[in-house]
Amino acid sequence: MTTIRLSDGIVKDDVLVVGLSYKSSKSSKTGAVSLQIESGDLAIDTKALMQTLADLGATAKPDEVIKLPGVSTRLIVLTGLGKSSAHYDHEVLRRAAGAAARALVGNSSATFSLPAKKAAGVKAIAEGAVLGSYLFDQFRGSTKSAQKSPLKTVTIHTELAGKAEIKSLAKSAEIIGTYTNLVRDLINTPPSHLNPETFCKTIADIVKKAGGASAGLKVSVMTDAQLKSKGYGGIIGVGQGSANLPRLLNISYSPKGAKAKKKYAYVGKGITFDSGGLALKPAKGMEAMKSDMSGAAAVCAATIAIALLKLPVAIEAWAPLAENMVSDTATRPSDVITMYGGKTVEVLNPDAEGRLILGDALVRAQESKDLDGIVDVATLTGAQVVALGTRTSAVMTNNQEFSSHFMELTKITGEAFWPMPLPVELRASLDSPVADLANIGERMGGMLVAGLFLKDFVADELPWLHLDIAGPAFNEGQPHGYTPVGGTGVALRTLVELAVAASA
Ligand code: BES
Ligand code: MN
Ligand code: ZN
Repeated sequence: MTTIRLSDGIVKDDVLVVGLSYKSSKSSKTGAVSLQIESGDLAIDTKALMQTLADLGATAKPDEVIKLPGVSTRLIVLTGLGKSSAHYDHEVLRRAAGAAARALVGNSSATFSLPAKKAAGVKAIAEGAVLGSYLFDQFRGSTKSAQKSPLKTVTIHTELAGKAEIKSLAKSAEIIGTYTNLVRDLINTPPSHLNPETFCKTIADIVKKAGGASAGLKVSVMTDAQLKSKGYGGIIGVGQGSANLPRLLNISYSPKGAKAKKKYAYVGKGITFDSGGLALKPAKGMEAMKSDMSGAAAVCAATIAIALLKLPVAIEAWAPLAENMVSDTATRPSDVITMYGGKTVEVLNPDAEGRLILGDALVRAQESKDLDGIVDVATLTGAQVVALGTRTSAVMTNNQEFSSHFMELTKITGEAFWPMPLPVELRASLDSPVADLANIGERMGGMLVAGLFLKDFVADELPWLHLDIAGPAFNEGQPHGYTPVGGTGVALRTLVELAVAASA
């Protein structure tokens, strides 16, 4: 865990992190740039540094981090902000802080002085620093001792340090960063060690540590036997091929001593491993499928974070959990299952399993009275990655206003989402000759078809968002900004922000 401190005094750490930006000089035809050190509210002597940076060929581009011997500190770390600006986008600051934090593994503390003028910018820097200070080494054996520890204490240097508002924002950043790192841990934990049952146990433990009932949190778990007897055919059907039996996890949060201003249901896809079932995935396509519970991890961790932030909103989080495996008990292509609520589905492709467990959970979630909205989060389709790439998630909806509100909030959180349509004409492709609907339809626009399947399980009057995070949930490429390799924790920040906005 990384702790955030605030300071407006002299720098006491061994390590000082500042920003570096570039300005393209108008006179130059060669594209030469001039560098600028951006140390925010801290005055530093930059003369000698500038020469060294020029000699090193520094570019100041995002993700460039340069470590040099300091004058008043042991190390001075310059993190790229890109093009110089009078007011940096908060996501630029968050990423720059994250990149610096990643480069500082092996150091226990550092002071960050970056150009943030307002409290929200300071919060973004704090978030970036905590998010960049992430290490997953639980499963290292003989190589564990070679792993260097990430930053334990981050001090943000700002003139605003004394203000009450900034203290609470720094605390929020710490909570948001810590719980995003929890999402990452859950995603990175191999399916040998994380199955539906152990997922529930882990969450129950964390809720207990977060204060449990005294924090307004309650956890309940439905076992496979209970799911079967109550008719959760989607969750049972997907989970029945595995020796690790399915579960439906519910965390409910209601604020202590305050009336909830809004009530949302958050539903997250929790496939602890997706082999594709009898529509077995090729080996390459299976490698990252321990991440198929990213949605479930995000909604659970977001709910706990919202409780720790003591926000006056009520959240019902639902995580349908199953392992999609191959065996003689697995669902066969063409099997018909009866979903919770009574709809029948012809399972033409057992690899389109996320929508089956989500259909059940969405119906169950809507039994809660007085919901103001429902949001599902899922690594649902490969088509999402084809459409938007690995860093932008999709938002689909039955309510434009809710979607626009969510998109506005992403400007605060810096999470990349993009609205996608649910074209009615694609719905016909989900018609089945034998059941109420089939679990696959037209291949083209597969992300939208999956969204349309889910839409059938949500009341038209209830504002609903479907977040497909298939690409962004798991980083199979290089680390960048505050994003490590592996689980990213995407969606948590905006789920929390939705609750913050509802509290206002
Ligand atoms: N979990 C996968 C989607 C996925 C793919 C997530 C790649 C992350 C990266 C999902 O269960 C799946 O297999 N979807 C199928 C649906 C198809 C059979 C209609 C897909 O996208 O291929
Ligand atoms: Mn699948
Ligand atoms: Zn899946």
